[in-house]
Amino acid sequence: PAVAALVVAAGSGKRMGGAVPKQYLDLAGQPLIRRAVAALRRHPGIGAIVVVIDPAWAGTAAAALDGLGVEPFVAGAADRQGSVLAGLEALAALPRPPDLVLIHDGARPFVDMPLIDGVLAALKHHPAALPAVAVVDTLKRGDDGLAGGTVPRDGLYRAQTPQGFRFDAILDAHRRFEGDGLTDDTALAEAAGLAVALTPGREENFKVTTEDDLARARHQALTALP
Ligand code: C5P
Repeated sequence: PAVAALVVAAGSGKRMGGAVPKQYLDLAGQPLIRRAVAALRRHPGIGAIVVVIDPAWAGTAAAALDGLGVEPFVAGAADRQGSVLAGLEALAALPRPPDLVLIHDGARPFVDMPLIDGVLAALKHHPAALPAVAVVDTLKRGDDGLAGGTVPRDGLYRAQTPQGFRFDAILDAHRRFEGDGLTDDTALAEAAGLAVALTPGREENFKVTTEDDLARARHQALTALP
């Protein structure tokens, strides 16, 4: 099957607070987003790669992704779900739309081959696949500054990306649930009644959201493969 990748990187990085969105910041000599896209590019099973950006940053994005052979940039939307839909429509408009799509956060620079392989393997038997990591911490509910009870963590996972889908099925779900403001594509898949397989995620594949995440990412980039 033809596999495409869709990387969403149109966020403003508000929680980081800097002038430059986090995806364009340097991680040990390479822009953060370049690591994310390059990892997908290195996978032999992935063909077209569409990257969704804020057009105000088009020059920065083009420099950051130079030589990686991505499709023309697609303009993002006000929320992540809208940005994903824009990217899916761009893939649908290609001369040969893909059979499968991997949807990845541009803010996850450390995705690796085994994780991608796990998602693609699950798509042989399921319409959707989600790399996930079991929750190990005790979960507490907060109640006005006091602990308001323990939430059983059994069977709870943290969702990562790339999430994989049969292309037609996720395009259909995104068109149906447009505007719902969901932050996760498998939430749309579930809403559309698709079974979502859980595959092994990795702690290393974290999303860079806060300043602390950026420091951790810079440290990890020094010891990671290219
Ligand atoms: O905000 P958060 O870190 O959860 O965003 C996850 C990913 O979605 C990021 O890579 C971000 O750039 C992208 N995004 C987007 N369009 C938006 C908001 C977020 O492409 N409007």
